[in-house]
Amino acid sequence: MTTQTLNQTIEITPFEGPLGAEITGLDLSQPLADDDFKRIHRAHLDHHVIVFRDQRITPEQHITFSRRFGPLQIHVLHQFQLSGHPEILIVSNVMENGKPIGLGDAGHFWHSDLSYKETPSLGSLLHAQELPAEGGDTLFANMHLAWDTLPQALRDAVEGRFAEHTYLAKYAELQKRSPWRPNLSAEQIAQVKPVVQPIVRTHPETGRRALFVSEHFTTRVIDMPEDESRNLLQALFDHSVREEHLYRHQWREHDLVFWDNRSLMHLAAGTPDHLRRKMYRTTIEGDTPF
Ligand code: SIN
Repeated sequence: MTTQTLNQTIEITPFEGPLGAEITGLDLSQPLADDDFKRIHRAHLDHHVIVFRDQRITPEQHITFSRRFGPLQIHVLHQFQLSGHPEILIVSNVMENGKPIGLGDAGHFWHSDLSYKETPSLGSLLHAQELPAEGGDTLFANMHLAWDTLPQALRDAVEGRFAEHTYLAKYAELQKRSPWRPNLSAEQIAQVKPVVQPIVRTHPETGRRALFVSEHFTTRVIDMPEDESRNLLQALFDHSVREEHLYRHQWREHDLVFWDNRSLMHLAAGTPDHLRRKMYRTTIEGDTPF
């Protein structure tokens, strides 16, 4: 039996502001025609965050759609994989039987997913399962704009330079404040050795340049005295998250949000402790940054 793929009546509506677009008229539980896939791919490159409304999809369908963009990465915190679907990381503040069911403080600091790996993520897809009545927003910062608008003195300071990214950079600090950071095994620690990335990267598909440092994972500028490195990174972090570079996503039921980790950083704004939030995330592998 052959599966028929029909073109759907997709509408792509860019948001006002520095990034993002909404996609309606698409049902990702149905097979996706190649033409539709191409339009979605183009929208992702043009807008950096695309919001698919009202996606009543299963974890398998979430994984299948994500895989069209590349192989999926498995998060080092295997404790929070969805049972039977290691490609899905549960992001949640919910506790069951006294134990967290997911990573509740994912996104507490600005970051680009998996920048601490030699091949960081191309993009991530976060699907709303359970949303709080208030809070729970996700913020995105356009790192192309951050580079384009960077003052010349800072551009000169970072051009051609590299920085270290470490998964463990804030781990102990997060572990002190929350129940979501288990002690890591030797095997997990071995999976997240520090890596060195260019401070300014070139998007492999669009050729646009972007700042590629984050508050969460970037620890130091290579070959620079410690004080100078700290001050420089702080100036880059502050500039990156200026209001005019940001989009705040206020979640609706069944939203599926797909962002480009090569173009953006993101931050989870936080959920009040007494409210439940549960999301499923897939993470697509990207290229070695250059
Ligand atoms: C993440 O950093 O992947 C989680 C973002 C969120 O929960 O809003």
